[in-house]
Amino acid sequence: MATVTSKNTVPKNMANLMEFELALEFARVVEEAAIASAHTMGTGDRHKADQVATEAMRATMDTVPMRGTIVIGEGERDEAPMLYIGEQVGAGWHDGAKFPQVDIAVDPLEGTNLCATGSPGAITVLAASEKGGLLNAPDCYMEKLVVGPSCKDAVDLDAPVAENLKGIARRLSRDVADLVVVVLDRPRHEKLIEDIRTAGARIRLITDGDLSAGIAAAVIGTGVHAVMGSGGAPEGVITAAAMRCLNGEIHARLVVDTPELEARIEKMGIKDKNRIYTAKDLAPGNHIVFAATGVTDGALMKGVRFFGEGTRTSSIVMTRHSGKVRFVESIHLAKRADVKVRFA
Ligand code: FBP
Repeated sequence: MATVTSKNTVPKNMANLMEFELALEFARVVEEAAIASAHTMGTGDRHKADQVATEAMRATMDTVPMRGTIVIGEGERDEAPMLYIGEQVGAGWHDGAKFPQVDIAVDPLEGTNLCATGSPGAITVLAASEKGGLLNAPDCYMEKLVVGPSCKDAVDLDAPVAENLKGIARRLSRDVADLVVVVLDRPRHEKLIEDIRTAGARIRLITDGDLSAGIAAAVIGTGVHAVMGSGGAPEGVITAAAMRCLNGEIHARLVVDTPELEARIEKMGIKDKNRIYTAKDLAPGNHIVFAATGVTDGALMKGVRFFGEGTRTSSIVMTRHSGKVRFVESIHLAKRADVKVRFA
Protein backbone atom coordinates (compact mmCIF):
# COMPACT_ATOMS: atom_id res chain seq x y z
CA MET A 1 0.00 0.00 0.00
CA ALA A 2 1.60 3.28 -1.09
CA THR A 3 0.75 6.11 1.30
CA VAL A 4 1.36 9.78 0.58
CA THR A 5 1.27 11.79 3.82
CA SER A 6 0.90 15.56 3.64
CA LYS A 7 0.41 16.24 7.36
CA ASN A 8 1.35 14.41 10.48
CA THR A 9 -1.47 14.66 12.94
CA VAL A 10 -2.36 12.78 16.08
CA PRO A 11 -6.02 12.03 16.68
CA LYS A 12 -7.33 14.57 19.19
CA ASN A 13 -11.06 14.02 19.12
CA MET A 14 -13.80 11.76 17.85
CA ALA A 15 -13.90 13.49 14.48
CA ASN A 16 -10.23 12.78 13.93
CA LEU A 17 -10.79 9.22 15.04
CA MET A 18 -13.52 8.98 12.47
CA GLU A 19 -10.94 9.44 9.69
CA PHE A 20 -8.42 7.10 11.29
CA GLU A 21 -10.84 4.37 12.18
CA LEU A 22 -13.19 4.45 9.24
CA ALA A 23 -10.85 4.91 6.26
CA LEU A 24 -9.95 1.26 5.84
CA GLU A 25 -13.45 0.18 6.87
CA PHE A 26 -14.77 2.17 3.94
CA ALA A 27 -12.14 0.59 1.70
CA ARG A 28 -13.75 -2.73 2.56
CA VAL A 29 -17.17 -1.35 1.60
CA VAL A 30 -16.14 -0.17 -1.87
CA GLU A 31 -14.03 -3.29 -2.46
CA GLU A 32 -16.96 -5.62 -1.80
CA ALA A 33 -19.24 -3.56 -4.06
CA ALA A 34 -16.60 -3.66 -6.81
CA ILE A 35 -16.13 -7.42 -6.56
CA ALA A 36 -19.89 -7.99 -6.73
CA SER A 37 -20.40 -5.77 -9.78
CA ALA A 38 -17.26 -7.04 -11.53
CA HIS A 39 -18.87 -10.49 -11.68
CA THR A 40 -21.49 -8.94 -13.98
CA MET A 41 -18.95 -7.25 -16.28
CA GLY A 42 -19.88 -7.48 -19.93
CA THR A 43 -23.29 -9.07 -19.34
CA GLY A 44 -24.99 -6.05 -20.86
CA ASP A 45 -27.22 -5.69 -17.80
CA ARG A 46 -26.44 -2.32 -16.20
CA HIS A 47 -29.31 -2.57 -13.72
CA LYS A 48 -28.08 -5.91 -12.40
CA ALA A 49 -24.54 -4.51 -12.12
CA ASP A 50 -25.84 -1.59 -10.09
CA GLN A 51 -28.12 -3.76 -7.98
CA VAL A 52 -25.41 -6.20 -6.88
CA ALA A 53 -23.01 -3.33 -6.12
CA THR A 54 -25.68 -1.61 -4.03
CA GLU A 55 -26.54 -4.79 -2.13
CA ALA A 56 -22.90 -5.58 -1.39
CA MET A 57 -22.20 -1.99 -0.34
CA ARG A 58 -25.25 -1.94 1.92
CA ALA A 59 -24.46 -5.29 3.55
CA THR A 60 -20.81 -4.39 4.19
CA MET A 61 -21.73 -0.97 5.57
CA ASP A 62 -23.69 -2.62 8.32
CA THR A 63 -20.49 -4.21 9.62
CA VAL A 64 -18.76 -0.83 9.95
CA PRO A 65 -18.50 0.63 13.48
CA MET A 66 -20.42 3.85 12.79
CA ARG A 67 -23.83 5.44 12.90
CA GLY A 68 -24.08 6.49 9.28
CA THR A 69 -26.82 8.36 7.45
CA ILE A 70 -27.07 8.30 3.67
CA VAL A 71 -27.29 11.88 2.38
CA ILE A 72 -26.64 11.07 -1.27
CA GLY A 73 -27.64 7.64 -2.45
CA GLU A 74 -29.73 5.61 -4.82
CA GLY A 75 -32.75 7.93 -4.58
CA GLU A 76 -35.59 8.86 -2.26
CA ARG A 77 -36.96 6.27 0.15
CA ASP A 78 -39.96 5.39 -2.03
CA GLU A 79 -37.88 4.85 -5.16
CA ALA A 80 -34.86 2.93 -3.84
CA PRO A 81 -34.99 -0.23 -1.74
CA MET A 82 -31.63 0.45 -0.13
CA LEU A 83 -29.01 3.17 0.27
CA TYR A 84 -31.85 5.68 -0.04
CA ILE A 85 -31.52 9.23 1.24
CA GLY A 86 -32.02 9.30 5.00
CA GLU A 87 -31.33 5.58 5.50
CA GLN A 88 -29.38 4.70 8.61
CA VAL A 89 -26.42 2.42 7.96
CA GLY A 90 -23.65 0.96 10.11
CA ALA A 91 -23.28 -1.33 13.11
CA GLY A 92 -23.69 1.50 15.61
CA TRP A 93 -27.44 1.92 15.17
CA HIS A 94 -28.12 -1.68 16.17
CA ASP A 95 -26.07 -2.23 19.30
CA GLY A 96 -26.19 1.26 20.78
CA ALA A 97 -22.39 1.56 20.95
CA LYS A 98 -20.94 5.06 20.87
CA PHE A 99 -19.69 4.91 17.32
CA PRO A 100 -19.12 8.12 15.32
CA GLN A 101 -22.06 9.70 13.53
CA VAL A 102 -21.28 10.28 9.88
CA ASP A 103 -23.05 11.48 6.75
CA ILE A 104 -22.38 9.34 3.71
CA ALA A 105 -22.65 9.97 -0.05
CA VAL A 106 -22.53 6.86 -2.21
CA ASP A 107 -22.40 5.94 -5.85
CA PRO A 108 -22.37 2.13 -5.55
CA LEU A 109 -21.42 1.81 -9.21
CA GLU A 110 -20.36 4.86 -11.20
CA GLY A 111 -20.56 3.91 -14.83
CA THR A 112 -23.18 1.17 -14.85
CA ASN A 113 -22.94 1.02 -18.66
CA LEU A 114 -19.15 0.86 -18.49
CA CYS A 115 -19.40 -2.23 -16.29
CA ALA A 116 -22.17 -3.75 -18.40
CA THR A 117 -20.06 -3.39 -21.55
CA GLY A 118 -16.69 -4.14 -19.95
CA SER A 119 -15.43 -0.65 -20.84
CA PRO A 120 -12.79 1.20 -18.80
CA GLY A 121 -13.58 3.55 -15.93
CA ALA A 122 -16.29 1.93 -13.79
CA ILE A 123 -15.74 2.45 -10.05
CA THR A 124 -17.53 1.96 -6.76
CA VAL A 125 -17.30 5.03 -4.56
CA LEU A 126 -18.33 6.71 -1.34
CA ALA A 127 -17.50 9.80 0.66
CA ALA A 128 -18.17 10.33 4.36
CA SER A 129 -17.93 13.26 6.70
CA GLU A 130 -19.04 14.49 10.09
CA LYS A 131 -22.74 15.49 10.18
CA GLY A 132 -23.50 18.29 7.72
CA GLY A 133 -20.19 17.87 5.91
CA LEU A 134 -21.65 16.96 2.50
CA LEU A 135 -24.23 19.01 0.60
CA ASN A 136 -27.50 17.19 0.16
CA ALA A 137 -27.65 17.85 -3.58
CA PRO A 138 -30.75 17.17 -5.68
CA ASP A 139 -30.59 14.48 -8.34
CA CYS A 140 -30.27 16.86 -11.27
CA TYR A 141 -27.48 17.98 -13.60
CA MET A 142 -24.63 20.16 -12.48
CA GLU A 143 -22.26 22.22 -14.61
CA LYS A 144 -18.74 21.28 -13.59
CA LEU A 145 -15.21 22.47 -14.10
CA VAL A 146 -12.69 20.25 -12.31
CA VAL A 147 -8.96 21.00 -12.12
CA GLY A 148 -5.94 19.96 -10.10
CA PRO A 149 -4.19 21.84 -7.26
CA SER A 150 -2.05 24.14 -9.46
CA CYS A 151 -5.06 25.44 -11.38
CA LYS A 152 -7.53 25.97 -8.52
CA ASP A 153 -7.89 29.71 -8.93
CA ALA A 154 -6.94 29.91 -12.60
CA VAL A 155 -10.44 29.13 -13.85
CA ASP A 156 -13.93 30.56 -13.61
CA LEU A 157 -17.12 28.70 -14.51
CA ASP A 158 -18.47 31.78 -16.31
CA ALA A 159 -15.31 32.60 -18.26
CA PRO A 160 -15.02 31.65 -21.93
CA VAL A 161 -13.64 28.13 -22.43
CA ALA A 162 -10.57 29.47 -24.27
CA GLU A 163 -9.69 31.72 -21.34
CA ASN A 164 -9.95 28.88 -18.82
CA LEU A 165 -7.77 26.69 -21.01
CA LYS A 166 -5.15 29.43 -21.27
CA GLY A 167 -5.20 29.78 -17.47
CA ILE A 168 -4.74 26.03 -16.98
CA ALA A 169 -1.96 25.85 -19.59
CA ARG A 170 -0.11 28.75 -17.94
CA ARG A 171 -0.27 27.11 -14.51
CA LEU A 172 0.91 23.79 -15.92
CA SER A 173 3.72 25.48 -17.89
CA ARG A 174 2.61 24.15 -21.23
CA ASP A 175 0.68 25.11 -24.33
CA VAL A 176 -3.08 24.84 -24.62
CA ALA A 177 -2.41 22.29 -27.37
CA ASP A 178 -0.80 20.01 -24.77
CA LEU A 179 -3.86 19.89 -22.51
CA VAL A 180 -6.29 16.99 -22.33
CA VAL A 181 -9.84 17.88 -21.30
CA VAL A 182 -12.31 15.15 -20.44
CA VAL A 183 -15.89 15.74 -21.57
CA LEU A 184 -18.94 13.48 -21.38
CA ASP A 185 -19.94 12.63 -24.95
CA ARG A 186 -23.44 14.11 -24.96
CA PRO A 187 -25.37 16.25 -27.48
CA ARG A 188 -25.67 18.94 -24.77
CA HIS A 189 -21.89 19.38 -24.96
CA GLU A 190 -21.74 20.11 -28.69
CA LYS A 191 -20.87 23.80 -28.20
CA LEU A 192 -18.41 23.06 -25.38
CA ILE A 193 -16.59 20.50 -27.53
CA GLU A 194 -16.46 22.95 -30.42
CA ASP A 195 -15.06 25.67 -28.12
CA ILE A 196 -12.35 23.36 -26.76
CA ARG A 197 -11.40 22.29 -30.29
CA THR A 198 -11.27 25.89 -31.46
CA ALA A 199 -9.04 26.81 -28.51
CA GLY A 200 -6.71 24.02 -29.62
CA ALA A 201 -6.76 21.68 -26.61
CA ARG A 202 -7.14 17.95 -26.95
CA ILE A 203 -10.32 16.21 -25.83
CA ARG A 204 -11.05 12.82 -24.36
CA LEU A 205 -14.71 12.07 -24.89
CA ILE A 206 -16.09 9.60 -22.39
CA THR A 207 -19.39 7.78 -22.50
CA ASP A 208 -19.79 7.86 -18.70
CA GLY A 209 -17.91 8.50 -15.49
CA ASP A 210 -17.16 12.18 -14.94
CA LEU A 211 -16.51 11.48 -11.25
CA SER A 212 -13.52 9.22 -11.82
CA ALA A 213 -12.32 11.62 -14.55
CA GLY A 214 -12.48 14.43 -11.98
CA ILE A 215 -10.28 12.53 -9.56
CA ALA A 216 -7.79 11.87 -12.37
CA ALA A 217 -7.66 15.62 -13.15
CA ALA A 218 -6.42 16.30 -9.62
CA VAL A 219 -3.62 13.73 -9.73
CA ILE A 220 -0.41 14.47 -11.62
CA GLY A 221 0.59 11.89 -14.19
CA THR A 222 -2.84 10.69 -15.24
CA GLY A 223 -2.78 12.68 -18.46
CA VAL A 224 -6.02 14.47 -17.59
CA HIS A 225 -5.83 18.23 -17.01
CA ALA A 226 -9.46 19.23 -16.62
CA VAL A 227 -13.01 17.94 -16.74
CA MET A 228 -15.64 20.22 -18.27
CA GLY A 229 -19.37 19.96 -18.86
CA SER A 230 -22.50 18.93 -17.03
CA GLY A 231 -23.06 15.64 -15.27
CA GLY A 232 -24.89 14.40 -12.21
CA ALA A 233 -25.03 16.70 -9.19
CA PRO A 234 -24.65 13.80 -6.71
CA GLU A 235 -21.44 12.81 -8.54
CA GLY A 236 -20.40 16.46 -8.24
CA VAL A 237 -20.63 16.37 -4.45
CA ILE A 238 -18.61 13.15 -4.28
CA THR A 239 -16.04 14.68 -6.65
CA ALA A 240 -15.87 17.68 -4.30
CA ALA A 241 -15.09 15.38 -1.36
CA ALA A 242 -12.21 13.91 -3.38
CA MET A 243 -11.00 17.42 -4.30
CA ARG A 244 -10.92 18.38 -0.60
CA CYS A 245 -8.57 15.43 -0.01
CA LEU A 246 -6.40 16.08 -3.09
CA ASN A 247 -6.32 19.90 -2.93
CA GLY A 248 -7.98 20.01 -6.31
CA GLU A 249 -10.97 22.17 -7.16
CA ILE A 250 -14.43 21.85 -8.63
CA HIS A 251 -16.42 24.90 -9.71
CA ALA A 252 -20.03 23.91 -10.11
CA ARG A 253 -23.59 25.15 -10.59
CA LEU A 254 -26.86 23.24 -10.47
CA VAL A 255 -28.74 23.06 -13.75
CA VAL A 256 -32.23 24.07 -12.65
CA ASP A 257 -34.24 24.07 -15.85
CA THR A 258 -37.81 23.21 -14.84
CA PRO A 259 -40.29 24.80 -12.40
CA GLU A 260 -40.58 21.38 -10.63
CA LEU A 261 -36.86 21.29 -10.00
CA GLU A 262 -36.87 24.89 -8.87
CA ALA A 263 -39.58 24.05 -6.31
CA ARG A 264 -37.64 20.97 -5.19
CA ILE A 265 -34.38 22.79 -4.56
CA GLU A 266 -36.23 25.54 -2.71
CA LYS A 267 -37.76 22.87 -0.46
CA MET A 268 -34.27 21.51 0.13
CA GLY A 269 -33.19 24.93 1.39
CA ILE A 270 -31.18 25.97 -1.68
CA LYS A 271 -32.03 29.65 -2.12
CA ASP A 272 -29.85 30.73 -5.01
CA LYS A 273 -30.21 28.41 -7.99
CA ASN A 274 -27.43 30.21 -9.85
CA ARG A 275 -24.86 29.90 -7.10
CA ILE A 276 -21.42 28.77 -8.13
CA TYR A 277 -20.15 26.19 -5.66
CA THR A 278 -16.56 25.27 -4.91
CA ALA A 279 -15.34 21.98 -3.43
CA LYS A 280 -15.56 23.50 0.05
CA ASP A 281 -19.18 24.53 -0.53
CA LEU A 282 -20.19 21.09 -1.77
CA ALA A 283 -18.20 19.14 0.79
CA PRO A 284 -17.64 21.55 3.69
CA GLY A 285 -16.70 18.84 6.20
CA ASN A 286 -13.51 19.22 8.16
CA HIS A 287 -13.10 15.46 8.38
CA ILE A 288 -13.70 13.64 5.13
CA VAL A 289 -13.06 10.07 4.05
CA PHE A 290 -13.16 9.21 0.36
CA ALA A 291 -12.90 5.64 -0.92
CA ALA A 292 -13.19 4.18 -4.41
CA THR A 293 -12.35 0.84 -6.02
CA GLY A 294 -11.86 0.12 -9.71
CA VAL A 295 -14.39 -2.25 -11.24
CA THR A 296 -12.95 -2.04 -14.75
CA ASP A 297 -9.49 -0.62 -15.53
CA GLY A 298 -9.17 3.15 -15.17
CA ALA A 299 -6.60 5.96 -15.04
CA LEU A 300 -5.90 5.53 -11.33
CA MET A 301 -7.09 2.07 -10.43
CA LYS A 302 -7.06 -1.30 -12.10
CA GLY A 303 -10.31 -3.20 -12.37
CA VAL A 304 -11.15 -6.26 -10.28
CA ARG A 305 -9.08 -9.31 -11.20
CA PHE A 306 -10.32 -12.81 -10.43
CA PHE A 307 -7.50 -15.36 -10.39
CA GLY A 308 -9.06 -18.56 -9.22
CA GLU A 309 -7.47 -18.63 -5.77
CA GLY A 310 -8.78 -15.20 -4.94
CA THR A 311 -9.52 -11.72 -6.14
CA ARG A 312 -7.39 -8.62 -6.44
CA THR A 313 -8.71 -5.08 -6.12
CA SER A 314 -7.17 -1.61 -6.51
CA SER A 315 -8.56 1.28 -4.50
CA ILE A 316 -7.85 4.84 -3.51
CA VAL A 317 -8.62 5.79 0.09
CA MET A 318 -8.15 9.36 1.21
CA THR A 319 -8.69 11.41 4.35
CA ARG A 320 -8.77 15.20 4.39
CA HIS A 321 -7.80 16.34 7.87
CA SER A 322 -5.17 13.72 8.51
CA GLY A 323 -3.89 14.17 4.95
CA LYS A 324 -3.51 10.63 3.67
CA VAL A 325 -3.86 9.45 0.10
CA ARG A 326 -3.60 5.69 0.01
CA PHE A 327 -3.43 3.53 -3.08
CA VAL A 328 -4.57 0.19 -1.73
CA GLU A 329 -3.93 -3.09 -3.50
CA SER A 330 -5.88 -5.88 -1.80
CA ILE A 331 -5.87 -9.61 -2.29
CA HIS A 332 -9.04 -11.31 -1.14
CA LEU A 333 -8.16 -14.96 -0.65
CA ALA A 334 -10.45 -17.84 -1.41
CA LYS A 335 -11.03 -19.77 1.80
CA ARG A 336 -8.76 -22.71 1.00
CA ALA A 337 -5.80 -24.08 2.93
CA ASP A 338 -3.45 -24.23 -0.09
CA VAL A 339 -4.10 -20.74 -1.46
CA LYS A 340 -1.02 -18.79 -2.66
CA VAL A 341 -0.36 -15.03 -2.76
CA ARG A 342 1.54 -13.47 -5.64
CA PHE A 343 3.40 -10.17 -5.20
CA ALA A 344 2.12 -8.46 -8.35
P1 FBP B 1 -24.35 5.75 -14.08
O1 FBP B 1 -25.69 6.03 -13.51
O2 FBP B 1 -24.36 4.69 -15.07
O3 FBP B 1 -23.35 5.51 -13.01
O4 FBP B 1 -23.89 7.07 -14.90
C1 FBP B 1 -22.83 7.82 -14.51
C2 FBP B 1 -22.72 9.12 -15.28
O5 FBP B 1 -22.07 8.97 -16.54
C3 FBP B 1 -21.92 10.10 -14.43
O6 FBP B 1 -20.55 9.88 -14.47
C4 FBP B 1 -22.39 11.42 -14.98
O7 FBP B 1 -22.26 12.44 -14.02
C5 FBP B 1 -23.82 11.16 -15.34
O8 FBP B 1 -23.97 9.74 -15.47
C6 FBP B 1 -24.23 11.83 -16.62
O9 FBP B 1 -25.58 11.67 -16.80
P2 FBP B 1 -26.23 11.47 -18.24
O10 FBP B 1 -25.92 10.07 -18.67
O11 FBP B 1 -27.68 11.66 -18.04
O12 FBP B 1 -25.63 12.46 -19.17
